[in-house]
Amino acid sequence: MNEKRKLVLVGTGFVGMSMAYSFLSTGGIDELVLIDVNEAKAEGEAMDLQHGLPYARGKMVVKSGGYEECKDASVVVITAGVTMKEGETRLDIAAKDTMIIKSVTENIMKSGFDGIIVVASNPVDSMTYVAQKVSGLPKERVIGSGTILDTARLRYLMSEYLNISSNNIHAYIMGEHGDSSFVPWTHAYVGCKNLLELLDEKGKDLSDLHGIYEQVQQAGYELIKRKKSTYYGIGLSLNRLVHAILDDENVILTVSCYQEGEYGQEGLYIGVPAVINRQGIREIVKLDLNEVDQAKFDASCKALKELNTDVID
Ligand code: 2OP
Repeated sequence: MNEKRKLVLVGTGFVGMSMAYSFLSTGGIDELVLIDVNEAKAEGEAMDLQHGLPYARGKMVVKSGGYEECKDASVVVITAGVTMKEGETRLDIAAKDTMIIKSVTENIMKSGFDGIIVVASNPVDSMTYVAQKVSGLPKERVIGSGTILDTARLRYLMSEYLNISSNNIHAYIMGEHGDSSFVPWTHAYVGCKNLLELLDEKGKDLSDLHGIYEQVQQAGYELIKRKKSTYYGIGLSLNRLVHAILDDENVILTVSCYQEGEYGQEGLYIGVPAVINRQGIREIVKLDLNEVDQAKFDASCKALKELNTDVID
């Protein structure tokens, strides 16, 4: 992959623009190009960001453009797609988004792009599968945002509950970015202490944690009910993921990865902890799931595989 720190965003809706805006605060890229089917929108968004550049962190070029801009990009982030409405699940919008992701990916590849694709459009695990299939890129170079946001939501809520910095909450949401996700609690740590031991010591109940998981699982729906969409959390999560790639961080994040038997399943993308660096997904972190969690993982895979077969294959 080329060494340029050039990022292309496809889709200048709220999610994409929250990520784009966050890069003006964090820096870390040299060039940001905005692409949208509505060219005027992309142009307007680029102009708006350009006006903030004198106050941004570091120097960067921001502009709008066409798919030819992908040719020398290191990372292309796809956020294009339809927004979930109240009452819809992420799976309900799969058919429409499949068409969009197929055509976006074809256009990206026509440019001669040879970097890493990050997909955030929902249902993200299936849309990542589509992008990989259509692009033909190595599986480790097509990454879905997966449960990176769910994990952030979990860490935030646990941090509030335990009154411990979220930096020390090592708990992960796995599975579909959606209703069938789960937390392997026996693998959760607070600093270096096993979470279940900590709760026991403090006389706290695991049922509180199940309540926290429920809040995470319902978070997307609750936000849509109140503000029609969700974007800051995912925008920052995408910024985190792009940094992990460009900075060759070797950091563990829960993202949507292609399964080749690591958790006994293959042939689909789903959220698991993985080491992320400049190559994309360096490796999937394998956990020894207990029977209950393995059954949850298998059920999540089943739901996604059915969806992949119904709307994609
Ligand atoms: C979210 O979880 C709706 O997937 C979106 O915020």
